[in-house]
Order: sequence, then C-alpha cells, then structure tokens
Amino acid sequence: MSEKILVTGGLGYIGSHVVVELCAAGYEPVIVDNLSNARASVLERLERLTQRALTHYDVDIRNRAALETVLEREPGAGLIHLAAFKAVGESVEEPLKYYDNNVAGSVALFDVFERAGGGGIVFSSSAMVYGDVKVFPLHEGMPVQPNNPYGASKAMMEQVLADLAQAPGAKTRGLSLRYFNPAGAHDSALIGEDPKDRPNNLFPIIVQVAVGQRDHLTIFGEDYDTPDGTGVRDYIHVVDLAQAHVMALRALLDGAFEQPFTALNLGTGTPYSVREVVTAFERELGQTLPQKMGERRSGDVATLLADPSAAERAIGWSAQRDLPDMVRDAWRWAGAARQWGLWNDDDQS
Ligand code: NAD
Ligand code: UD1
Repeated sequence: MSEKILVTGGLGYIGSHVVVELCAAGYEPVIVDNLSNARASVLERLERLTQRALTHYDVDIRNRAALETVLEREPGAGLIHLAAFKAVGESVEEPLKYYDNNVAGSVALFDVFERAGGGGIVFSSSAMVYGDVKVFPLHEGMPVQPNNPYGASKAMMEQVLADLAQAPGAKTRGLSLRYFNPAGAHDSALIGEDPKDRPNNLFPIIVQVAVGQRDHLTIFGEDYDTPDGTGVRDYIHVVDLAQAHVMALRALLDGAFEQPFTALNLGTGTPYSVREVVTAFERELGQTLPQKMGERRSGDVATLLADPSAAERAIGWSAQRDLPDMVRDAWRWAGAARQWGLWNDDDQS
C-alpha cells in the first residue's frame, strides 16, 4: 500500500501541482483544503489528470478536532503544509487575519500532527522572509527580516517548526521551502493559477492584456539599477516547484538531514526582467502587447534572485524548466480556463 501524505492547501495553485507529483511518485495524497481560495472543480480536474480517486477533507486547519479525526482516519508520517493566505497588501491592511490563518492555523496543525505520532513536515515559505535586501543572490544563511505581516507570518512559522523539531523527544522534523516567484501551469492545462480576485502579479496580468481583459500592461518602473531598468525576479515553473516538494519530503522521511530543521531556497538562480518576460510572451503569442511605462509600485524591490545551490546539494533538485516553458504553459492554461468559464471577464475586471 502506498504511503499517505497529508497535503494542506492541496486544491490551491501550488498544492494541486504537488498532489499530481505525489501521485506520480507513488504516494497517496490526502488533501485538506477549506476551499477559501480554491474551486471544488479542481478536485475533478485533478482526478482526471491523475486517473485516480482522490481523498479531500473540507476542513479548516484551525479546527483541531476535525484535524484529529482526519489523522485518525488517514495516519501517515508525511505532511506538506501549503494552506495559508498569501496577499502581501491585504496582510498589511488585515494583519490579524494573516496571523490567525497562517500562524495560529499552522500551530494547531503541527500540534495535532506531532501528537498523532509526528514525522516529516515540509512547509511552504517565501523569499519574503528575507525582506528588503539589496544583495544578490540570496542564500539561506542571510538574515530573516521580513517587512510585512505576510512575510512575518512565514518567518514565525519557520521558527515554530525549528523549535518543535529541536525540542527534546520531538517526533517531527521540518523542512522549510522558500519559494521565489512561482509561474506557469501544468502542461495538461487541467490545473493552474485561478485567481479569484483581481490579480497583482505579472504573469496573470500579461495574460489579461493578451486576451483583451485589460487594455495594456503598466511596467512599474524603468529606472531600477538592473540591466534594462525594469524589475528583475527569479521566476520558477510551478511543476519544478511541485517536484521539489516530493524530493524534499522523500529526503526528510529517509532521514537525509543531520539537523532537525532546514530551510532551502527554491528558485532557478536565473534573473529575468519585466521586459524579458513581456518579450517572451510576445514571442509565444506572435503579437505585440500594448504596454505603458508607469511609476514604481510601492513596496517593490529592484531584484529578487535565489541562490538555489543548497537545494541541489540537500535534495538533488534543480529547476528543469525555463521562462519560455512558463510562458507557454501559463498561456495554454489561460485558454483552457477561459473555455471552462473559470477565468471569466467579470471575475477579472
Ligand atoms: P492558493 O491560495 O492557491 O492555495 C492555498 C490553498 O490553501 C487554497 O486552496 C485555500 O483554499 C487553502 N487554505 C487557505 N487557508 C486554509 C485553512 N485555514 N484551512 C484549509 N485550507 C486553507 O495559494 P498558492 O499560491 O498555492 O500558495 C500555497 C502556499 O505557498 C502558501 O502557503 C503561500 O503563502 C506560499 N507561497 C506562494 C507564493 C506564490 O507566489 N503563489 C510565493 C511564495 C509562497
Ligand atoms: C509579488 C508580491 C510578493 C509575492 C509574489 C508572488 C508585492 C509587493 N509582492 O512579488 O509578496 O510573494 O508577488 O509571486 O506585491 N510588474 C509590472 N507590472 C505589473 C505587475 C508587475 O511591471 O502590472 C513587475 C513588478 O514591478 C516586478 C515584476 O513585475 O518587478 C514581478 O511582479 P509580481 O509578479 O507582482 O511579483 P513580485 O513583485 O516579486
């Protein structure tokens, strides 16, 4: 019988791709997702993609009693914890909402997991934990100094997981994965990012321009200290990211880490500017995208770039997909999603 792995947030953008990769690697994912930012139809599409019946519990991670029942019914030594709120701007306006869901929710989940026998926890963290740094690339030894409540919630949970794993007699070990800029979709076009609210990120905004839901892209600043003056990021294909979770979990369950807690960057280490992303889309679409130069966006940094070498050493992972792959898959997914009425014009305007 294959090993059960609890996946919180398993119906979300990244979690759904993790579920596919877990199935491909022979694990049995058990999804816990309260659908606060996912559609129920993701489950059907995941079942089509993986060709198997999947288990989903519509449970909030803050509900300890419900989590205990899930773990009694689905015992397993692996937990991949992705469930969280993730909008930086909203976290500044409503910090307690973020500390409640991301911090209190994770504490409840880790407590129930440890009491049920513990095992390995892979935690979704973010490059946001490094805050507004000006040195690149970023490596895991750099100080953790988040500058917004969302980033702080991730940094706090890394500390909680580290302390839990280091406690005398602890049965849990932890691995925190610090994602850079996830992009793209599964190449089946059955799953991908499905933003419920108006998106703020570059990829979904470009797609909206390409399909005519917006008249143009505003490039936020051309006077940064970067090669072409526009912002530089480390975009990582969501399937590469998902595969890293499976490799991380396997290494954790195999006892490959000397330390009870480890944090790893997940990026490609390859910098791409806003202009380069726009050009890659234009190449894929065979058309020019309407665009205007605008002011810098408040809170933006010039460059965000990972040193991903620690992940390669620790879990043997490195990204296999590049920017054209991300652009192609994001575009294909947007086409399919619009056909099914997922990404309708009313949602996005
Ligand atoms: P997402 O919103 O698509 O997925 C999160 C899922 O968790 C959703 O399906 C939502 O319904 C569920 N969820 C939220 N709160 C819950 C709760 N209390 N109980 C049960 N389920 C709950 O987001 P995503 O982009 O897939 O992100 C997944 C994780 O990765 C998050 O922890 C996020 O902070 C982290 N992360 C994301 C990015 C990014 O750019 N997408 C970057 C860095 C880190
Ligand atoms: C943003 C979030 C970050 C989150 C990440 C997830 C902010 C300040 N940061 O980061 O918390 O983890 O998304 O992927 O919200 N750009 C434009 N025009 C646009 C949109 C974006 O020029 O209409 C530029 C941005 O200035 C930036 C780059 O594109 O240089 C990437 O932007 P985005 O996709 O929003 O990612 P981040 O800014 O890295």
